[in-house]
Amino acid sequence: MAESNYRIKTIEWQGDEVVMIDQRVLPLEEEYIHHTTWQEVADSIRTMVIRGAPAIGVATAMGMALAAMQSNAEDYQSLRADLDAAAQGLFETRPTAYNLGWALDQMKKIYGEPGEPGEIRARMKERSQEILEEDIAMCMAMGEHAAPLFPEGARILTHCNAGALATGGYGTALGVIRSVFRRDPSIHVYVDETRPFLQGARLTAWELQQEGISCCLITDNMAGYFFKKGEIDAVVVGSDRIAANGDVANKIGTYTVSVLAREHGVPFYVAAPTSTVDLGVPDGDHIPIEERPTEEVTCMMDTQVAPHGIAVCNPAFDVTPHENVAAIITEAGVHREPYTESLAEAKKGKD
Ligand code: MRU
Repeated sequence: MAESNYRIKTIEWQGDEVVMIDQRVLPLEEEYIHHTTWQEVADSIRTMVIRGAPAIGVATAMGMALAAMQSNAEDYQSLRADLDAAAQGLFETRPTAYNLGWALDQMKKIYGEPGEPGEIRARMKERSQEILEEDIAMCMAMGEHAAPLFPEGARILTHCNAGALATGGYGTALGVIRSVFRRDPSIHVYVDETRPFLQGARLTAWELQQEGISCCLITDNMAGYFFKKGEIDAVVVGSDRIAANGDVANKIGTYTVSVLAREHGVPFYVAAPTSTVDLGVPDGDHIPIEERPTEEVTCMMDTQVAPHGIAVCNPAFDVTPHENVAAIITEAGVHREPYTESLAEAKKGKD
């Protein structure tokens, strides 16, 4: 991994246990949760112990490996039945993150063909570790491709957390920021707090602070003020799913930032591995948007702030149309319009 002050491991194997840092309690507490079953992993994905599309993909792969180890099936057909059930359970946890389905496909390549159960178990665990390592390598490649896009002393706005915590390590959008910072320590980052789950305030601010990258935290509704004052030179965000035409699903509020960026002539960049690109959906209208529990909106952390019984909407993601996106950066390079062609090219030979 590149020189980094980042010391927290988002997710890793410790023997036959999958260990995750609990992102619900960061940055005030640093707690780790040990998982020995796929059901526990599914629960941790659903409840946001681990979140961020690439990290969800890694957790899914490890969850499937745990399912293989949990199963005491002695023949291929029984193992296959156990694994299909686990795959369905994991698939139902979070619908927008494409990396989840991608990781299931990767694991199915191993257990989808008849084989000796012991060998399948070993290979699935090995592959889940490879997926973690490949994810870090992809993030670092994105950082290298994207860094030259930013002017000296760039003031960069980011939304949500697309950092080491949201990936195997290093980060997509935050990985780009890390790479820009290594070339030019004079950059400054505006961090949207990202209501309702506060991934920006709790996680991005924390990661940047740990690395000594100059940053300031703003509430989501302050972004327009800073665009209008000419204090933002570029935006970089991650993504949960990118459609074939370049429409980008990301954390709720990203679309608003993209409109502000377009209005003010500021480039809006998206950094995501090709495992986030879903060529199976033609455009953003076909991306499923997760609706999350109402308490995330009515409460700030555990404190109720809205009237009891109030009606609430809580879509977790929105879609930024490709027209608002200056470039999509994957591990394969910097992709621009027409995205239908450039993304298809980026995905060639990847799945
Ligand atoms: O609901 P979350 O926290 O899982 O949403 C995460 C995001 O929207 C991230 O921006 C996205 O997954 C990219 S993470 C590298």
